[in-house]
Amino acid sequence: MAIDVKDAFKRYLRDREEQGTDWNYWVERNESVRSAVATFLGADPDEIAITTSASASINSIASAMDFTGSRNKVVISSFEFPTNAQIWYAQELRGAEVVRVPDRDGYIPAEDFESAIDEDTLLVAVTHVCFHNGAKLDIPAIAEIAKRKGAMMLVDGFQGLGTFEFDVRNAGVDFVVGGMLKYLLGSAGIAFLYVRDELIEKLVPTVTGWFAQADIFAMDNTRYDPSPSARRFETGTPPVPNSYAAEAGLKIMKEVGLSAIEYRINEITAAIIAEAKRAGYTLAVPDDPKRHGALITLRTHDEDALVQALENQGIITSCRAGNLRISPHFYNNSDDIDVLFGALRQHNHLLL
Ligand SMILES: Cc1ncc(COP(=O)(O)O)c(C=O)c1O
Repeated sequence: MAIDVKDAFKRYLRDREEQGTDWNYWVERNESVRSAVATFLGADPDEIAITTSASASINSIASAMDFTGSRNKVVISSFEFPTNAQIWYAQELRGAEVVRVPDRDGYIPAEDFESAIDEDTLLVAVTHVCFHNGAKLDIPAIAEIAKRKGAMMLVDGFQGLGTFEFDVRNAGVDFVVGGMLKYLLGSAGIAFLYVRDELIEKLVPTVTGWFAQADIFAMDNTRYDPSPSARRFETGTPPVPNSYAAEAGLKIMKEVGLSAIEYRINEITAAIIAEAKRAGYTLAVPDDPKRHGALITLRTHDEDALVQALENQGIITSCRAGNLRISPHFYNNSDDIDVLFGALRQHNHLLL
């Protein structure tokens, strides 16, 4: 956790003690996060909802979709984080049909979506970077197929945003979800949703609350009056302490700059891949830089034992689906890589 983020949490506690429930200041913090996220994505602040999780973002969109019309298919992939599959399978209770595009040899080329997306497809909802092996999908190419076939396109950017430059208009997507916990340096319990401006007023969420209304403080309990902006995809009291932290994290990201961050991450991930190959380890992620994100994954015999052994040596990694997940950020350097591979050499028996 960055020092500035830690200080932001302390500031929340101090303000809470000294100012009580300072709604105006709280709303300002939320608006500051909204603007920073918008800048970050190349979007307008009115196209951004601040939510409590990626799941809340996706559920809000799902609640606004009608699966009883001429299109009812939702195309996902085998790379999805559980949430972005489970929520769409839940919509089968409301008339949706989920189609899952499988990976082959650890990747899903964009052309594999060509036959899955058809004139019955309402939405394509896919991850940008796979949480268990780090593969990075070609989102602009998949979005082009979706658009050509008249479907909407949602990207789960949780494992990618903050590690490379991403612009919603260049990517050609309709919805983006992400959270502040990982590469955006913020906190758990705060996330966001981008909705392309033309779609906002067409989508009326049935998951709602007072912060989603046109006038939040109207306190009108006689009707539902959704905001004309993407704020309609929010619900109740914003995640206030987490917005202090997210604001601080996003400020650091802005100061360092995404192009510098992307450059550094490319250098570090290339070095990790080269070292892993030299050591004879098996990569679970494609080695083509266009096909992986910041997560580099190695096949293991016992992922839990390896993560624990590294943690005992002061190296924080994680594991998913039998893979060791190494997630460098811009603040890591070549010394960190040396330390990591020095430690891995002591645990060769746990690696494939
Ligand atoms: C790809 C992806 N999506 C979503 C999430 C988290 O979803 P939520 O904010 O609903 O917990 C994660 C968490 O690791 C993730 O990796």
